[in-house]
Amino acid sequence: MQGKNFFAISGTVAVFLFAMSSATGTGDDLATYQEELVSQTASLRPGWHSYAGYNGPWLENAFFQEWSKLKPRLTRVYIPVAWTDCMHTNRLKAAMQEVLTDLKPQFKYFTVLQADLGFNHDQLSLTVPSNIDFILFSSGGDSPPLKTVPVPLLKEELKPAGFGKTISVSFQASVHTHPIRQAIHDQFNDVYLFLGGECNNWKLISESSNISFCPRGFGTTSFRMFETLQLGTIPLYVWQHEKWLPFQEIIDWNEFAVVVEAEDIPTIPARLAQADIPSMMAALKRYHHMFTYNYTIHYIMEHFLEGTPAIEKQHGGISRHSLHGNV
Ligand SMILES: *[C@@H]1O[C@H](CO)[C@@H](O)[C@H](O)[C@H]1NC(C)=O
Ligand SMILES: *[C@@H]1O[C@H](CO)[C@@H](O)[C@H](O)[C@H]1NC(C)=O
Repeated sequence: MQGKNFFAISGTVAVFLFAMSSATGTGDDLATYQEELVSQTASLRPGWHSYAGYNGPWLENAFFQEWSKLKPRLTRVYIPVAWTDCMHTNRLKAAMQEVLTDLKPQFKYFTVLQADLGFNHDQLSLTVPSNIDFILFSSGGDSPPLKTVPVPLLKEELKPAGFGKTISVSFQASVHTHPIRQAIHDQFNDVYLFLGGECNNWKLISESSNISFCPRGFGTTSFRMFETLQLGTIPLYVWQHEKWLPFQEIIDWNEFAVVVEAEDIPTIPARLAQADIPSMMAALKRYHHMFTYNYTIHYIMEHFLEGTPAIEKQHGGISRHSLHGNV
């Protein structure tokens, strides 16, 4: 008798507790936890790093600023760590890993990362526990085994100065950062305009070109590719191992870019001969606003906005494959 009563009561208590936790929903709990995470990670936003004469904000910084300003209600917890700034300080790796290790498994997460090779960059080597549902928005390439969504690799936003297209095809880069750059140089050095990586007039020459080579370098893509798009020039992206193109579920890159795998480098002259430059330029005008901080930030947030047909839902739940588009 005694025992039966006990079970009856504890059953009621359990149901009551369950009802309470689902009534508050993940919403408020998520919001509280999100706030905690923002204050816990304050030291992991150490200030913008400098690179190639640019001092930030970088995408990770700009996303944090806009997200803090808008305070959107998202279905996932944002991990507000400035991973790449931390990486540049060379001493916050353990603290970054601790944030990931301590994530509560009852929530889903996302974060934004600029570094080449994602969390597998050798100065990061960060691991997300396998029971954590986690999506990485990555500028610098895939990050196995994580689910990743490609986003643009952005530096400052360039505006065209209005130069006419007086150069057919140009290639301005140091050829030493990747063997495919050397291969392109060696095969086409007497066909297209080749200038070294140190050229002061880079912007002018890129904007004055119909097409500009944007081969991968150390990373799967380059700042150069997105600067080229911002300047209204058709990029010729030569990739190897990973074709890292953002927004493939929304736009067809072949409309405004020439995309060539490294093993097909010899086909480049034929590909360029077929290219319909005026229609590619027109497509570029339609899409170049997408290669900006603002567009990219909203694109990321829209995946998880509450109460909208978010991209995550359109995909029927994100799978690795749909995240990658048709890579
Ligand atoms: C750039 O493309 C346009 C459109 O096809 C063409 O008329 C022009 O001659 C090209 N410019 C150069 C320098 O090749
Ligand atoms: C930023 O992007 C959003 C969504 O793409 C757009 O609605 C908004 O007007 C943009 N804001 C600026 C300042 O460009």
